[in-house]
Amino acid sequence: MATEQFYEDNRNNWDDRAKVHVGSEMYRIDEYATNPRATSDVVEFDLERFGSLDGLSVAHLQCHVGTDTLSLERLGAASVVGVDFSPVAIAEARKLIRRAEASSRFVEASVYDAPQAVGHTVDFVYTSIGAICWLHDMDAWAAAVASLLEPGGRFYIRDVHPFLFIFEEVDGKIQPHFPYWYTPESPLSWDEDQTYSDNPEGTAIASTRHHEWNHSLPEIINALVGAGMRIDQLDEHKMLPWQYSPSCVKEADGWYLPEPLRSQVPSAFSLHATKL
Ligand SMILES: C[S@@+](CC[C@H](N)C(=O)[O-])C[C@H]1O[C@@H](n2cnc3c(N)ncnc32)[C@H](O)[C@@H]1O
Repeated sequence: MATEQFYEDNRNNWDDRAKVHVGSEMYRIDEYATNPRATSDVVEFDLERFGSLDGLSVAHLQCHVGTDTLSLERLGAASVVGVDFSPVAIAEARKLIRRAEASSRFVEASVYDAPQAVGHTVDFVYTSIGAICWLHDMDAWAAAVASLLEPGGRFYIRDVHPFLFIFEEVDGKIQPHFPYWYTPESPLSWDEDQTYSDNPEGTAIASTRHHEWNHSLPEIINALVGAGMRIDQLDEHKMLPWQYSPSCVKEADGWYLPEPLRSQVPSAFSLHATKL
């Protein structure tokens, strides 16, 4: 299958997921729209790690329906532009920003085309949780991140740890199943009529087919270094803000693998880098 077809399947799948997510309890759209102090746990967790947003121009890659984008604005950014390739997600994000009387801007574009679509450089690029598994080309991704940044500008990502992605739950047991390294031509392909959020309105996911690529930490880091970025910090986390598999355990701040895996396997990573 051609790479373009993988992306077309994914975009159709994300259009359907966005329709479900805006009606879900998980995404709390009405709360974000009506409470000017509502911010996302994900961005708050990350803010403690990347420091202040005050006065910064920000690009938020793979912004989905805009809840984290709005949070970046509410937590101090001077301006925020969200980028996503799903027209439904972008339309919903714009609707949210209008309802919230906020000012974030959104552009519909592939991550790879973000620099041209945004049209200017920024001080800070942010992306998080469930982002790079949808991209087949880390070098092109890193080049887009670097092109968006002013020299001295910073990049922060927190995402699912690539080692976690080798695990699958079968009969209540989480065990290694998928390969760690994938080639661009061979994503993992799925047919699922559900998404990861609740679905109170029972909205159907018609475009069930989607494709994901795993990227090892060296692949991610080497791509960023090759694009002219300096890696400032890399951390691994036991917590994920999303239930990876049915046996994962919910705690006050998020989801954890059950023991003994919790002590053996990282669930997420975060990375800071600076454009040289
Ligand atoms: C799991 S969401 C990430 C969002 C964020 N953690 C949240 O929950 O709001 C993944 C987003 O990536 C977007 N996406 C996937 N592939 C993309 C691509 N090639 N270019 C731009 N956006 C893409 C999807 O449309 C979706 O909105």
